[in-house]
Amino acid sequence: MTALLEVKGLEVSYGHIEAVQGIDFEINAGEIRTLVGANGAGKSTTLLALSGLIKPKAGSIRFEGEELTRLKTHQIVERGLIQVAEGRAILTTLTVRENLELGAYRRKDRSAIAGDLERVLSLFPRLQERIDALAGNLSGGEQQMLAIGRALLAKPRLLLLDEPSMGLAPIIVQDIFRTLRRINGDGLTIFLVEQNVRQALKVASHGYVIESGRIVLNDAANKLLSDPKVVAAYMGG
Ligand SMILES: Nc1ncnc2c1ncn2[C@@H]1O[C@H](COP(=O)(O)OP(=O)(O)OP(=O)(O)O)[C@@H](O)[C@H]1O
Ligand SMILES: [Mg+2]
Repeated sequence: MTALLEVKGLEVSYGHIEAVQGIDFEINAGEIRTLVGANGAGKSTTLLALSGLIKPKAGSIRFEGEELTRLKTHQIVERGLIQVAEGRAILTTLTVRENLELGAYRRKDRSAIAGDLERVLSLFPRLQERIDALAGNLSGGEQQMLAIGRALLAKPRLLLLDEPSMGLAPIIVQDIFRTLRRINGDGLTIFLVEQNVRQALKVASHGYVIESGRIVLNDAANKLLSDPKVVAAYMGG
């Protein structure tokens, strides 16, 4: 089986800072895979490279066999790689509905958009309740749901999430991760970047641990969950 996304030898630098130092990973269609690591390990940088927002110094990123490093960000979005940015990046002065509609701005299939909007609102009933509220008045958890909902309206083929658990209470994190599992159950492939190592490994089938720009562990998520090195370094164990 060829992977949906295949990354090889990816290197990304900011000037002299080598944030990502030659990493390899892949994601098969239908999976949830996670890249976990501490502050500053290189997780967001990896996602920015996938989305074309930073040009890698070396390496290849293949999506369905096509090299993405030669494409512009908007072309990568057209291929269906849709990123939910760290810190949510919703438009606070627009309503929930307007934010969701923005997710679909590139699409012309009006009736399909309406169906997808309904689906998103059934996945996130809180958004339905607050559909006419200003996004800036939502709680942190609701804003994260909105950011994910908006990404879903872009019809992703691969959903990229940058620390959706950040700053949220554990019960909200569980709710959001449960919803990610449901979305995945509907067939969407997900690449999840997280510092919340335990929760991320619980929802994923396969995990990569990144430290100082290098992948140091690569295994089935349930193996990593019980790996003493992972427990000691990331789970307060
Ligand atoms: N715009 C930038 N300019 C210079 N250095 C940067 C920039 N963005 C990130 N870095 C550095 O690159 C390295 C990787 O950062 P990155 O943001 O990818 O980490 P991260 O794993 O996403 O961390 P966090 O969990 O805190 O979000 C760090 O050393 C960071 O200081
Ligand atoms: Mg980050």
